[in-house]
Amino acid sequence: MINIPKGTKDVLPAQSYKWQFIEETARSVAKAFNFREVRTPVFEHTELFQRGVGETTDVVNKEMYTFEDKGGRSVTLKPEGTAGVARAFIENGLASSPMPVKTYYITPAFRYERPQAGRLREFHQFGFEAFGSASAETDAEIIFAASSFLDKLGVKGVKLEINSIGCPICRNEYNKALKNYFAPHLETMCPTCRTRYEKNPLRMLDCKEEGCKKITAGAPQILDYLCEDCKSHFEKVKSLLTGLGLEYTVNSRIVRGLDYYTRTVFEFLSGEIGSQSAVCAGGRYDNLLSQLGGNPLPAIGFAAGIERLLLLMENTGVAFPEEQKPLIYLAGMDESSRALCFKIAAELRKKGVCAEIDLMARSVKAQLKYADKIGAKHVAVIGESEMQSGEVSLKKMSDGSVRTVKIDDLYKYFI
Ligand code: HAM
Repeated sequence: MINIPKGTKDVLPAQSYKWQFIEETARSVAKAFNFREVRTPVFEHTELFQRGVGETTDVVNKEMYTFEDKGGRSVTLKPEGTAGVARAFIENGLASSPMPVKTYYITPAFRYERPQAGRLREFHQFGFEAFGSASAETDAEIIFAASSFLDKLGVKGVKLEINSIGCPICRNEYNKALKNYFAPHLETMCPTCRTRYEKNPLRMLDCKEEGCKKITAGAPQILDYLCEDCKSHFEKVKSLLTGLGLEYTVNSRIVRGLDYYTRTVFEFLSGEIGSQSAVCAGGRYDNLLSQLGGNPLPAIGFAAGIERLLLLMENTGVAFPEEQKPLIYLAGMDESSRALCFKIAAELRKKGVCAEIDLMARSVKAQLKYADKIGAKHVAVIGESEMQSGEVSLKKMSDGSVRTVKIDDLYKYFI
């Protein structure tokens, strides 16, 4: 017996309709906001993530599924969706399209993390990425789109937290302030924090070690270091969100786990799914395209974790639309009536009606039992008399009512 790899999950027939509901909702929100689908490979050159996601992040340092292919190239299973979409944007010359270019994706992603509730090694993201606009309206549109998606799923009690982590100019000043603050504590901090102190002090605020967390609690706040442009951008984003009726809190501790962010960052958090509380998160990344060799163009996006959303919806009793059940089960009494069942089912299926028949050579009694088990909405038993009259007795399973319907007219009853 070969088992499933640790940190991965099968989606079985009894659950897949829930996934389909989330995916269909995602696509309908994308349509309403005019974001168009983009599909990129599951694996990319490792360098894309090293340069894009950043070498001081846990994702790149510890969590990537990296391997050498048979041609000796280092490739990595995508740990997130943004870097691949940014690469595709540059490589395919989308910068010459009318701006902004608004894209979305539903993709598997891979991170070698310690699995727990809501944290997997293979998970799935639904994400939006908008390229080409630096306006605060775009930030508000992206955040509002994420919020609309959560609303449409029926998810409750999710809180929106936002922050601005500035641009390279103000970040530089802030990093200096952080270094001054951390310098006297450095010896007691973890090795990762010490490396980050040298390479990217902002990342120290993301440390999960208890001892380090106590020290970072008193660190300077990025919002006190924003330059005038970043400050007024953030003010405008906040007032647009308020204008849209979105509730949020400003949390100056949000730095995000990926290095490409600039200015606005945000997270939608839930208290109902354990320690992995972020169901959806994102932000602006105005320097990623130029870092990847493209023209400097601003961009912003978000990604929602589908497994976390599913967990949240199940934990809080959100009602999923009912799974589709067969509209009719056709039970055949003998060889020739079974053949007729086959033909009727074929006609109904052509018209898009979900019709079910016996594939197990069961007795009529056993067929009816099976029809009940699979939740067929109606049942018709076909025997010699039905074949002669060309009519069937259609039984509605929810109330037991029976009506006589011409075989040729059966489809009308369901469409
Ligand atoms: P992220 O915060 O790393 O951002 O991931 C986004 C979402 O993916 C999380 O909020 C969470 O729901 C889900 N997620 C992340 N890791 C796991 C995991 N190991 N198991 C289950 N779910 C997980 C990004 O990935 C950015 N690319 C988002 C973005 C798009 N920023 C701008 N555009």
